[in-house]
Amino acid sequence: MLIFVLPLILWSSCAFSQILYPPQYTTNRIVGGEEAAEGIAPYQISLQGAASGLHSCGGAIIDERWIITAAHCTRGKEASAFRVLTGTQDLDKNVTKYYYPDRIVEHCNYAPRRYMNDIALLHLNESILFDDSTKPVELDHEALVPGSKLLLTGWGTLSLGGDVPKRLQSLEVTYVPYEQCRAAHDNSTRVDIGHVCTFNDKGRGACHGDSGGPLVHNGKLVALVNWGMPCARGYPDAHASISYYHDFIRTHLSSSETDGLDENTEEMPSNRAKGHCN
Ligand SMILES: *[C@@H]1O[C@H](CO)[C@@H](O)[C@H](O)[C@H]1NC(C)=O
Ligand SMILES: *[C@@H]1O[C@H](CO)[C@@H](O)[C@H](O)[C@H]1NC(C)=O
Ligand SMILES: *[C@@H]1O[C@H](CO)[C@@H](O)[C@H](O)[C@H]1NC(C)=O
Repeated sequence: MLIFVLPLILWSSCAFSQILYPPQYTTNRIVGGEEAAEGIAPYQISLQGAASGLHSCGGAIIDERWIITAAHCTRGKEASAFRVLTGTQDLDKNVTKYYYPDRIVEHCNYAPRRYMNDIALLHLNESILFDDSTKPVELDHEALVPGSKLLLTGWGTLSLGGDVPKRLQSLEVTYVPYEQCRAAHDNSTRVDIGHVCTFNDKGRGACHGDSGGPLVHNGKLVALVNWGMPCARGYPDAHASISYYHDFIRTHLSSSETDGLDENTEEMPSNRAKGHCN
């Protein structure tokens, strides 16, 4: 099924004393998704270790130079630690080239322990060539209505502790409003208004998806996988809301357009820019 990559956190409340696992710390993943139909998610990327070539997180293309993902996927790492695979649903069919980030912009108020503002942008050192299987996704700004169906895609293992499947998996999940989501999590402050929550059928064992991976509604990006609890327990999962972080995203994309007018500008001394808070 789809893998989550979850921050390693011990819940302080008794009711939630369980550990959530980030992708890089575990191979525990859940069975249950289905192979994604070809061409269903041309915006999907696989974020990989530049040296290892291993898939670590999902993400989405939002511009020819920009990838969006979760901040816990990039935290503590330099841009040079990553490569981005686009244009394929098969990790072995690296038919298109890899792209390389030269800058990471994490939300400046990203609070890992509180699961807040878990969103980051990766700027690429060259423009992505778009084609039928490689396209940016539009950002969604519409308010979701309870019960809206979202498409979640990602690469995950097909058995507990198994290998990452080569083929992209997909899962339909249902939008859960903030109040309901927060109540389901015992009013935990770890659910906040910057999250879009979703719920999957208990029976499918399908709660885990790729961290940083895209959730799409009517073809537009609404959220990125942030965190969740083992799904069979019936708690909604929480994802970074694209509309909530609209200003953060737009500020960085538009400032880079201005920068880009001069191709000969000096390299930034640090490849780790801190984001504006919006
Ligand atoms: C592309 O995938 C093949 C396996 O199908 C692998 O051997 C090769 O190293 C990959 N290329 C890169 C650049 O990772
Ligand atoms: C982008 O970065 C990669 C990895 O550092 C490098 O191999 C490639 O030449 C760079 N491309 C451009 C256009 O600078
Ligand atoms: C959560 O908050 C709501 C509204 O403030 C309250 O009615 C409900 O009892 C609370 N639930 C828990 C489990 O604390």
